[in-house]
Amino acid sequence: MAKNSNLGQAKTAKNDEFYTQYVDIQKEVNAYIDYNPDVFRGKTILLPCDDPEWSNFTKFFAQNFERFGLKKLISTSYAVESKHYTKDWQPTLFETENPRYSADKSRVCGKIFILDEDTNKNGKIDIDDLKWDYLSGDGDFRSAEVRTLRDEADIIVTNPPFSLFREFLAWIVEADKKFLIIGNINAITYKEVFPLLKSNKIWLGPSITSGDRLFMIPDSIYNPEAVGARDILIDGHHHISVMGVRWFTNLDHGRRHEPMQLMTEADNIKFSRHKEIKGQEYKHYDNYDAIEVPYTDAIPSDYDGVMGVPISFMDKYCPEQFEIIGATESEGKGFSQGLWKGGVAQPMANSIRIYKRIFIRKKP
Ligand SMILES: C[S@@+](CC[C@H](N)C(=O)[O-])C[C@H]1O[C@@H](n2cnc3c(N)ncnc32)[C@H](O)[C@@H]1O
Repeated sequence: MAKNSNLGQAKTAKNDEFYTQYVDIQKEVNAYIDYNPDVFRGKTILLPCDDPEWSNFTKFFAQNFERFGLKKLISTSYAVESKHYTKDWQPTLFETENPRYSADKSRVCGKIFILDEDTNKNGKIDIDDLKWDYLSGDGDFRSAEVRTLRDEADIIVTNPPFSLFREFLAWIVEADKKFLIIGNINAITYKEVFPLLKSNKIWLGPSITSGDRLFMIPDSIYNPEAVGARDILIDGHHHISVMGVRWFTNLDHGRRHEPMQLMTEADNIKFSRHKEIKGQEYKHYDNYDAIEVPYTDAIPSDYDGVMGVPISFMDKYCPEQFEIIGATESEGKGFSQGLWKGGVAQPMANSIRIYKRIFIRKKP
């Protein structure tokens, strides 16, 4: 049985080459389309860490170009030389058989793929109409040429390199773009992320609310020693199971406007499936005027004060139902609004330190 990895381990291993499964992209993107069928209509989408050889993002958006009513799809990839390949890499026939092929550029330049017209004049715009060229640089999203593409785009979608998540999000936010990107649940309390969640400028996507996700590892990077027992073979391709995966976005979706169905405090104490709640009282923090709620489904519907809830609450967060007022200061100062007594950065309940809590209050 394969064991789980997490994006933190991916970071340590500097392994930024895990590829998202088609079905995970399809499930998430379709939820936005269900909420607003015109969400992508007339828009330019940039996929800045993706090449069609491995990335399903390019495939998915190219295949749905007409259904979504896209204006333009731009996909850029990072130079082979910059990736941590463990084996000899060979360009694909798609590249070498193209008149544009350059042996000099193939390893050191990123690529750009553009879809905006019916190039083969077969009456439809799809993946066969993708035009490509080499970028002048390595395709780093921070380069001036990819920044120019970012500025041209309306929406940025990708699974960015795990090790550069903070920088990648900041790169999107500074350009004030719509986005849909994959990250780890722990990013919720990053000092660059939490203030955006708190002020409802960004939120979590609807399709992943628990469990793990499988990511494909290309043969050229696959290292049996590093992956070990976590290896899962699907259709002859190596995959790794990653915990705590979430989508981060500022595209609206239906789930976030559905309030959670919750029991009152009295009913929780009577009927809760959690032994910490059933027949007990909710603990009050020693150093903060709030109650400790160890499970999101145990939030009492009739409690008017502040409640400390696990970060997975963000999967169910409905801004019409609750307001977020702070978080444990696991990172950065100021999340707790200076409400702590005695400068303690984590809430204590019965002298026990409670980690990673978000503080919420019911909306009137
Ligand atoms: C986690 S993988 C995801 C790939 C693809 N988006 C997907 O989900 O299938 C991140 C990709 O970003 C690329 N990458 C790493 N650093 C980059 C950078 N500074 N600029 C652009 N791309 C980068 C990696 O080579 C890798 O292909």
